Amino acid sequence: MRASTAALALFSLLGLTTATPTPVDLAPRCGQTILPYNLQQLDEASPSTVYPNTISSNGNFHVEQTVGSNGNVYNRIYQIAAFANVPANSYACQLNVIFPDPTSLTETGNPTLNVTTLYLNSPSSITYPNNWSWSTFFPPTSPPLGQGLFGTINLEAGQTAAINSEVCPNGGGNLAFLFTIASWVSESSSVDFTQYVNGLNGAGLTGVYLTYDC
Ligand SMILES: *[C@@H]1O[C@H](CO)[C@@H](O)[C@H](O)[C@H]1NC(C)=O
Ligand SMILES: *[C@@H]1O[C@H](CO)[C@@H](O)[C@H](O)[C@H]1NC(C)=O
Repeated sequence: MRASTAALALFSLLGLTTATPTPVDLAPRCGQTILPYNLQQLDEASPSTVYPNTISSNGNFHVEQTVGSNGNVYNRIYQIAAFANVPANSYACQLNVIFPDPTSLTETGNPTLNVTTLYLNSPSSITYPNNWSWSTFFPPTSPPLGQGLFGTINLEAGQTAAINSEVCPNGGGNLAFLFTIASWVSESSSVDFTQYVNGLNGAGLTGVYLTYDC
């Protein structure tokens, strides 16, 4: 993470005297990129529904919560993003976001996202098709959610950002992350975007991606 931040800083210094990089060029060149193979939602209002993987349909990524006048939080929708087959002996698995402008990103309220790892020490539990619904994970049972807080981020058009990095799965395998509205957000809020390999008007990769070996 530190090395890649330095590399990016150096790259942008060089960028002052050379051609303006395209958004995709901002992805660290030292490593490998993996796009999500599963985007699946969990819905508090429909706790036993197993939602489909939207990668094979419309690429929808959606997180939201409603906060009532009494302060109660309800109608939470959480988003899972899963990445397949990180090779054995990889290092520095880093979760990133990129939103070329113009973007499909729409937000309401104050949607700071809380990102946690899912099944961190059990890559083989990260499958699709699966039986994952809201009630699979909430209320929390013995430790499916892994490490607790992994990172927080506010998404915005024109952004390329690393959320955080961690050790890659021991022996290789899959990695998954859960996106929620952060617990300190006390208003109704939402994030919605379309995960694109090549986004609006040919803008390029849009959404979440994983890098490693940087
Ligand atoms: C879903 O759960 C059922 C019942 O527990 C099980 O038989 C089935 O194999 C599961 N399917 C997947 C894809 O995990
Ligand atoms: C982040 O999400 C995890 C998993 O749902 C939860 O345990 C934790 O309390 C949340 N933290 C914040 C700051 O939202």
